[in-house]
Amino acid sequence: MKWTAPRIKACKGVEKVTCLTAGDFATAHLLDEAGLHLILVGDSLANTLLGYETTLPVTMEQMLHHTAAVVRGVKQSLVVADMPFMSYQVSDEQALANAGRFLKEAGADAVKLEGGRLRATCIRRLTENGIPVMGHIGLTPQSVRAMGGYKVQGRLPAEAEALLADAAALEASGVFAIVLECVPRELAARITEAVSVPTIGIGAGAACDGQVLVTSDMLGIDSSVAPSFVKRFAELGEAMKTAFVAYRDEVTAGRFPDDAHSFPRPDAEPVM
Ligand code: KIV
Repeated sequence: MKWTAPRIKACKGVEKVTCLTAGDFATAHLLDEAGLHLILVGDSLANTLLGYETTLPVTMEQMLHHTAAVVRGVKQSLVVADMPFMSYQVSDEQALANAGRFLKEAGADAVKLEGGRLRATCIRRLTENGIPVMGHIGLTPQSVRAMGGYKVQGRLPAEAEALLADAAALEASGVFAIVLECVPRELAARITEAVSVPTIGIGAGAACDGQVLVTSDMLGIDSSVAPSFVKRFAELGEAMKTAFVAYRDEVTAGRFPDDAHSFPRPDAEPVM
């Protein structure tokens, strides 16, 4: 059965919500088959697929293109498209029009955008118009310039109170879930306790109602990327490099392709 925003919301207190990111058809298909509740087309694809240093340069057109590819690979998971930097900040009208494009043109089920109280009216405009929204507070990478780097948020008491107020504002504006990124686990537990929608943690400890990781990080695709909260569930980067080197060596030595991997002439003796 297809996961919907109301079904995800109803997971609170019942089952942990599982989420990973995807930006392409093949990965999305595997995540869907693996039974993930949510697939996030995160704007982190700016870093992982497009090679940018931050998420700031990625455009609406690029996010639509990747979201559509993900949607084509999915049957059951809920596909959430990340709204890129400056696609929702200029005005609530612009946010509504751009969020609508993710559902209408790319086939996404929901959108995600960063920010707390500051975004509450914008999010309400979207949810009142039938667009499911996932919130995102704590470390919000689109504000990396203002934050002065990728740092744990909510360590000071005043910051913690501000994040609790942000979570309450998001809940009131109608989000179906809230991503908590890089906040102390005790604070994540307080926020999780305080809101009626699932919290989806990344670097926020085990008390959250669900977890999300960037897929290429948990697969170990790029060994130079190693945030301390990421557990590597595979070392695919090393495995891929080993395969690429083996291919290069076999082609260079003339060992590939052999007869088993090429076609004989139709009238040639069959190979036994
Ligand atoms: O862009 C992304 O991948 C995200 C996750 C880190 C939550 O926003």
